[in-house]
Amino acid sequence: MSTPPALQGKHLVLGLSGGIACYKSAELVRELVRAGATVQVVMTEAAAQFITPVTMQALSGRPVFSSQWDARQPNNMAHIDLTREASAVLVAPASADFIARLALGRADELLGLLCLARPLQTCPLLVAPAMNREMWAHPATQRNVAQIVADGATVLGPAAGDQACGEVGDGRMLEATELCDEMIAFFQPKRLAGRSVLMTAGPTFEAIDPVRGITNHSSGKMGFAVARAAAEAGARVTLVTGPVHLPTPRGVRRIDVVSALQMLDAVLPEAPQHDIFVATAAVADWRPATSAEHKIKKDGSGRPPALAFAENPDILATVARLPADRRPWCVGFAAESHDLVRHAREKLERKGVPLIVANLGPATFGRDDNSLLLVDAAGERELPRADKLSLARQLVAEIAARLPPAQARASAA
Ligand code: C5P
Repeated sequence: MSTPPALQGKHLVLGLSGGIACYKSAELVRELVRAGATVQVVMTEAAAQFITPVTMQALSGRPVFSSQWDARQPNNMAHIDLTREASAVLVAPASADFIARLALGRADELLGLLCLARPLQTCPLLVAPAMNREMWAHPATQRNVAQIVADGATVLGPAAGDQACGEVGDGRMLEATELCDEMIAFFQPKRLAGRSVLMTAGPTFEAIDPVRGITNHSSGKMGFAVARAAAEAGARVTLVTGPVHLPTPRGVRRIDVVSALQMLDAVLPEAPQHDIFVATAAVADWRPATSAEHKIKKDGSGRPPALAFAENPDILATVARLPADRRPWCVGFAAESHDLVRHAREKLERKGVPLIVANLGPATFGRDDNSLLLVDAAGERELPRADKLSLARQLVAEIAARLPPAQARASAA
């Protein structure tokens, strides 16, 4: 049931060039190691002005390299050896000067040298820029960034926000957790490259009056995990979510809604723009027929107010009934308390969707792990208990495998 950490088996060379963001690199090593990677730190002389090699050695559990003249390597070829076993080189922070050196192919210090000497086919280069906003915006830097991208590097960030110099703008290095997530995403198979995924997630909230309403215990975790997994797999993802307390997965476009009717209104114009629709939301079946304008007060009679209900539209079934040329390939979820297969099959028929993902409601709501049962025309397939992100990645693989080629519409159009 326990799934290996996402970077298990990955060996990363983490390069630090000079910049105040070096303080984030200490945390980054911890995140990468926690995610299962082994990390070899390489620092430029300038980086050592900002953080000591001692700190980086202690956190990575390996001596740091900072000079090509380091005699510790038996063959004295650190610049060659360090990348031969590496899954990738990540330079974080990448200063303006270091990016300029990469763009020129300079090799007069160890980090630049090993980037140049790395095997292009097996050891990709990722860089996380960190610099003052004016330096980032300067045409020279932009020219250099464009050059290293053309040479095959992947640029992560930078983010916008407060800068150490007191200015505000683009140029902040991504946070350690964001960079670690980017690395994890980088290594995921791009099964949905060129595809687009529309999703619903979370509960809905159906107002009774301005202060009360009807909702449920859906946390949104499973839906957000599927959105993240789809984005990691290379899809363009739009996530329509009810009220939840979850951060938006990186690269995912999020639309917040409250009620089922709002969710439907948000989904309908988006549906024809997407190849796949995954409905994970726990949509309330009914809403109060009217929502009181003011808080409903006790009237002293001892009788509760008579509430009338109206049935909510079925968002999934509505999308599944769109004309074929505007209909994404639909996946429904079914949270049941018993008779999983029977109820899932019923839902497959009733909603007219090619795949239903069934789970036991009480065993999933709010939890970090789950188990899923995939039900389609061909049969059933169990994805055994695991954390929701691992399950989401497996589900994305299952969806990608079932997606008919005819659905390969121009998703970015
Ligand atoms: O009918 P039931 O609520 O069990 O179906 C669950 C599936 O249908 C989920 O995929 C859910 O997101 C979707 N659904 C919907 N709109 C509703 C009710 C359910 O999209 N009003």
